[in-house]
Amino acid sequence: MDTPLTRLVGVRHPIVQTGMGWVAGPRLVSAVANAGALGILASATMSPQELRSAVREVAARTDAPFGVNLRADAGDAAERVRIIVEEGVRVASFALAPRRELIDRLKDAGVVVIPSVGARRHAEKVAGWGADAVVVQGAEGGGHTGQVATTVLLPQVVDAVDIPVVAAGGFHDGRGLAAALAYGAAGIAMGTRFLLTSDSTVPDAVKARYLAATVTDVTVTTAVDGLPHRMLRSELVDSLERSGRTAALLRAVRHAAAFRRLAGLSWPRMVRDGLAMRHGKGLTWSQVLLAATTPMLLKASMVDGRTDTGVMASGQVAGVIEDLPSCAELVDRIMAGAAQTLDRLTGGRTVG
Ligand SMILES: Cc1cc2nc3c(=O)[nH]c(=O)nc-3n(C[C@H](O)[C@H](O)[C@H](O)COP(=O)(O)O)c2cc1C
Repeated sequence: MDTPLTRLVGVRHPIVQTGMGWVAGPRLVSAVANAGALGILASATMSPQELRSAVREVAARTDAPFGVNLRADAGDAAERVRIIVEEGVRVASFALAPRRELIDRLKDAGVVVIPSVGARRHAEKVAGWGADAVVVQGAEGGGHTGQVATTVLLPQVVDAVDIPVVAAGGFHDGRGLAAALAYGAAGIAMGTRFLLTSDSTVPDAVKARYLAATVTDVTVTTAVDGLPHRMLRSELVDSLERSGRTAALLRAVRHAAAFRRLAGLSWPRMVRDGLAMRHGKGLTWSQVLLAATTPMLLKASMVDGRTDTGVMASGQVAGVIEDLPSCAELVDRIMAGAAQTLDRLTGGRTVG
């Protein structure tokens, strides 16, 4: 299928696997790339050295294009951009709006820039700064999420910007792809659906929790790090919601120290990152401290398999997903489903 997204990044299918901390590693990303979709490595939970070796590992497993997701406000964003450029990565994906200089540097090097946003004004801002396309995530999407549902946000953003718009939040099948195209999107981006594949390295016990979830088992809470965060409701979420502010801050200090060691960051760098977050997102110091909590709690589930002590970030769509196909099977199934849907809608006339 030919859309502005497939033309822009050079993939066969207008499907993106989004950057998910601890989940979107070399194995998942290369499986997605080999299936003809765009896989994106999550780098916020990697040190710069780990990022470089992860990029090399993906490149060794596939000749197809792929991307790297990074936090726009990270103190070492410029270093990560340099790695992306030096390693010849095709796409840079950003959580939140990147600074104009970063977009310019990537575009000068021929890297396609696709930020992820959750609101129309952010889409307008990054389009004005020269982003090549934008992923727009509706409220039903997993992880940190906004308030506006995909069905409202997507057409709003499509009408507001001239660059290709990729729809995220709640997608899992071919009907969804056809619907997104009908809204004017250039493709779909999925997190939860790709987490639930046989190629994903998430431990089986954790995948089983997602498969067992119903749509009402997925909740939004601010109890983890102060920001609205969509995840499976679990004993951990219940206890975080019960625990007070002081307990949350003490926990955050422990997590910040652990994350610093894991990510190979120095304390001065952590403080610089914190300052950037305060200014970039208008957060208080306690919110900045809490921000270190998410990566550590996500690691507990996604890497260590702890369903009791880990956060299981999830889209609402987990409630309708019931199997663990390979990425190749999934992408084929979605493309066949979309073709069938479009055929049905056009009474068998070919859709161009
Ligand atoms: C387990 C998990 C981890 C995530 N981590 C990140 C992340 O590190 N950076 C980011 O930009 N988005 C992250 N997200 C959001 C996804 O990239 C994506 O936008 C979202 O999952 C789309 O909605 P869906 O789950 O309904 O497909 C995460 C989502 C999940 C489910």
